[in-house]
Formats: sequence, structure tokens, C-alpha cells
Amino acid sequence: MSQRPSASAAPVPRRAVVTGVAGFIGSHLAHSLLQAGTTVIGVDRRDPATDRAAATNLAALDGLPGYIHVTADLLTCAIDPLLLDANVIFHLAGVPGVRPSWGPHFSEYVNSNILATQRMMEAATRIRVPRLVVASSSSVYGSTDGSHSVESDHPRPASPYAVTKLAEEQLCLAHAARGDCPTSVIALRYFTVYGPRQRSDMFTHRALEAALTGRPLRLYGDGHQRRDFTYIDDAIAATIAAAAAPKAAGIVNVGGGSSVSLLEVINIAKNVVGRDIEIQLESERIGDVWITRADPRHAYEVLGWQPAVDLHNGMHAQMKAMVQPAYGNAV
Ligand code: NAD
Ligand code: UGA
Repeated sequence: MSQRPSASAAPVPRRAVVTGVAGFIGSHLAHSLLQAGTTVIGVDRRDPATDRAAATNLAALDGLPGYIHVTADLLTCAIDPLLLDANVIFHLAGVPGVRPSWGPHFSEYVNSNILATQRMMEAATRIRVPRLVVASSSSVYGSTDGSHSVESDHPRPASPYAVTKLAEEQLCLAHAARGDCPTSVIALRYFTVYGPRQRSDMFTHRALEAALTGRPLRLYGDGHQRRDFTYIDDAIAATIAAAAAPKAAGIVNVGGGSSVSLLEVINIAKNVVGRDIEIQLESERIGDVWITRADPRHAYEVLGWQPAVDLHNGMHAQMKAMVQPAYGNAV
């Protein structure tokens, strides 16, 4: 690989819109941007006054100058005024879980991941925002033979959630490909992000929670399934770099190329907490893929990005945040 500047040296935008700001990744992104001097308009439909997880996530932004918060649903709100004078939109709002996407909740996935995104792209075009970075997902690759997934691979989403994320990224790219669209799009395929304030439905959180509380960990399948785990700070560095990436960058994997089994995650959780975990075996969940593993070369070429945090250190940081209520995700 050729030498590239590091992602952390990427220029920061002057004014950014962050959707999904009350969520795990969005709140970290807003925090990093604010610390770098960007004015941030954070949008989320969850109201911190009534939603505990949102309040915890947003508490990280308390007192930082340059932050403007808007509680609004992107499916129905007036989006144009939010975008005025923005250099970039980080569109992270979405309904994220793989397993609950079967059945009656599918319409929520369609509403937030597809219909709200269509409204966002139409508004971005009208307001002539030059760049939109959209949160896509490793799940669009579906089941693979374990080799590294390359952005040009044929996507085979294996869950309704993954279908909506593929639709979402392709929708944004279809708008951007129009000759009259002033908004260029970078779609980031994040690979299982973990770290402080991670969503409480995700495995890394649940393994640490089980070790910390002594409550059993429900393991879906035999634990040999593997993920390319990405630490939150690394995911944020890639996301900020995407704001300044060349237009032609298109779709970019945000994953380092390693792949770790859930059994190994359980061992790390035991290690960093210093306590055993009781495992409750349950059936494998439909729609879960066996393995995810990013080919990281395109991210390196177009973003100058490489992950810096290994799973042991990242889970240690996540565990420390879980035992410090002020930092969020307390158990
Ligand atoms: P999260 O649930 O913590 O955050 C998503 C936020 O979007 C929530 O606060 C939610 O209220 C908000 N939202 C949803 N629909 C909305 C709407 N219609 N209007 C306004 N706000 C709305 O999830 P996360 O883990 O931070 O994921 C953020 C994004 O990244 C999602 O799009 C997800 O699909 C994607 N992603 C996440 C991961 C991961 O490992 N966490 C991996 C791949 C992709
Ligand atoms: C994660 C995120 O939740 C998605 O939002 C994201 O799109 C996706 O990564 C991605 O990389 O694109 P997932 O890989 O399913 O999805 O991550 P987890 O929810 O942490 O699950 C990982 C594995 O742990 C799965 O096999 C799951 O079945 C298993 N698991 C999860 C359990 O065994 N027990 C649990 O309590 C939770």
C-alpha cells in the first residue's frame, strides 16, 4: 500500500448536520466534531427528556460550545431549515438491529432507513449541501465464505434490516449520480462498532454486562460466528475523514480486516472484568451472518484510514465506561 496522510489529520468541516445524534455513533461523532471546532446541528427523534439512553448519550455534549440540538423525526419534519449553510450532512439516523427486523417492525426500518433518507437526499439537493456521508452496514454483504469483503462484491443481504441499509446507500448514490445533484455521497459500511455507550442490544455490551453483573449471557448459536469489530474512535476517525474524501470514493468499508469469534469476545470480557460469565445457549438467530470481515484497502486509499485500537484495549475502555455512570451505559 502507498503512504497516505492519517485520517486523524483530515480537515474538519465548519458546519455539520449529524442525524441520529442521540444514538451511539452519532453522539460520539458530534462530540469529536465539536471538540475540533465544528458547529454541529444534531437531529434525533428520541427526546432526551423522556428517553434515558438518549439523555445519557447527549450528556456527553453538555456544555460544548457550537452545539444546536433539534428533536425531530426525519420522516415528517421540515428538513430544509436544518441544512442551511451546512458543509456536510452525516446521516446516521436509522433503525439498526439485525434480528428484530423480521416481522411487524419492518415498517419502522423502511420508514427511517429508506423513506426518511429519500426526504434527506431531496432536501440536501434543494439546499445544495456539497457532501452527505451516509451510515451503511457490513450486513449488506450477507453470508460470505470468510474472505475479505470488497466494496465491489455482489451484495446478498440476509435480513430485512440489511436490505433496507443496501437500499439506503444505493438511494443516496442514485441521487448523487444525477447530473443536476450538487450533493456528493460517501457511503460508509461500518463493521460492528463497539466501545463506550454502545447500544445495549449488542453483543460486546451484553458480554461485559454479564461479567459485571453476574447475570447470564444469552448466546445465539455456538459462539463460533465471527465479526470484524471496530472501535468507536476508529469509526469516528473514518467518518470525519469521509467528509473530505474525493467524490469518487463512493462506498467505503469501515472495518480493519480482522475477524474475531464471539467465544473470544467472551474471554476478553472475562479478562477485562476479572470475573467468569455464565452462558445460556440459545438457537442461532435467522438473518445473522456467520462471519464479517472487511477488505480495508479502499478505506486506506481514499480516507487514509486504518484502525488503531485492538479489541482487548477497546473492550477495556468500554468496560471502564460501564462502571462510571457519568460516562454512560452504566449497568
Ligand atoms: P443508534 O440506535 O444508537 O442510533 C440511531 C439514532 O437514529 C437513534 O438515536 C434514533 O432515535 C435515530 N433515528 C432513527 N430513526 C430516526 C428518524 N426517523 N428521525 C430522526 N432520528 C431517527 O444506532 P447506532 O448503533 O449509533 O447506529 C447509527 C447508524 O449506523 C445506523 O444507521 C446503523 O444502521 C448504522 N450502523 C451501525 C453499526 C453499529 O455497529 N453500531 C454498524 C453498521 C451500521
Ligand atoms: C451490528 C449492529 O447491531 C448493526 O446495527 C450493524 O449494522 C452491524 O453490526 C454491521 O456490522 O453492519 P451484529 O453484527 O449482529 O450487528 O452485532 P451484534 O448485535 O453485536 O451481534 C453479534 C453477534 O452476537 C450475532 O451473531 C448475534 O446473534 C450474537 N448475539 C447478540 C448473541 O449471541 N447474544 C446477544 O445477546 C446479542
